[in-house]
Amino acid sequence: MGNLRVSSMLLLSLIAATFANNFHQDVQVTWGGRHARILGRGNLLTLSMDKTSGGSGFKSRRDYLFGRFNVNMKLIAGNSAGTVTTFYLSSEGPSHDEIDLEFLGNKSGSPYTLHTNVFTQGQGGREEGFHLWFDPTKRFHTYSIVWNPRNIIILVDNIPIRVFSNEKSIGVPYPNKQRMKVYASLWDADDWATRGGRVKTDWSKAPFVAYYRNFVAKSEWGIQGLNARGIKQLSWVRKRYRIYYYCNDLKRKQHRGNGGRRPPECKASIGGHAVVEEST
Ligand SMILES: *[C@@H]1O[C@H](CO)[C@@H](O)[C@H](O)[C@H]1NC(C)=O
Repeated sequence: MGNLRVSSMLLLSLIAATFANNFHQDVQVTWGGRHARILGRGNLLTLSMDKTSGGSGFKSRRDYLFGRFNVNMKLIAGNSAGTVTTFYLSSEGPSHDEIDLEFLGNKSGSPYTLHTNVFTQGQGGREEGFHLWFDPTKRFHTYSIVWNPRNIIILVDNIPIRVFSNEKSIGVPYPNKQRMKVYASLWDADDWATRGGRVKTDWSKAPFVAYYRNFVAKSEWGIQGLNARGIKQLSWVRKRYRIYYYCNDLKRKQHRGNGGRRPPECKASIGGHAVVEEST
């Protein structure tokens, strides 16, 4: 019994040791060449974009089946309209899974939108959009994805803003079979990003630069779900900062295609599986 305990603890610490904090070791540039730059001792990475060569991006070398993924980001300051800066998880192939954070830029003085989505087996359409309670261009903030067998939790500075629960029992597909890598990118999407595409990218402000720091991916997720405090924080964010929720968008084709019904997860109560105590 004692030995079993010790060896499972050893195993756990081995798993925990797989987390790292050096862009040189942990990621590879996927596009944009010199527009993705790793600085210092590997702790800071910048993505930039200009008109002639477009944006840039990177992905993690490793892939994961569940984990906790943190990064600090400082977004494009000034007029960032038309730009999209991302941090997301994705598997490969036509029926891929994906968990998205996309920061949609805006004119100076107007708020960024944090657009989130969850794809399961190639099906997305689960957008939730938020404004933030701070200016994300002033300093670094921590953005996290927790992905475990029961819940996907997106956090901003450790405050949960979105939970997608494993509701298999009511027919909601959940990503738990395909391994995912971590991706980040900066690209131009001025046909839709800002005020539905009405505000275009001002290329006279290029190059646009976004900063990533302290990237940590670990195959342990830490928390299973939300505790009472997390649930309170989540409802605060929903009430004050959520600007779009697909479940409430009754004009969507997706709902019409579904016989006018909302997807099954929209009926699940806010807690559901999310309401469990933190395990650490
Ligand atoms: C940009 O600012 C407007 C208000 O000025 C806001 O409605 C919108 O959500 C903001 N974000 C984007 C990406 O359009």
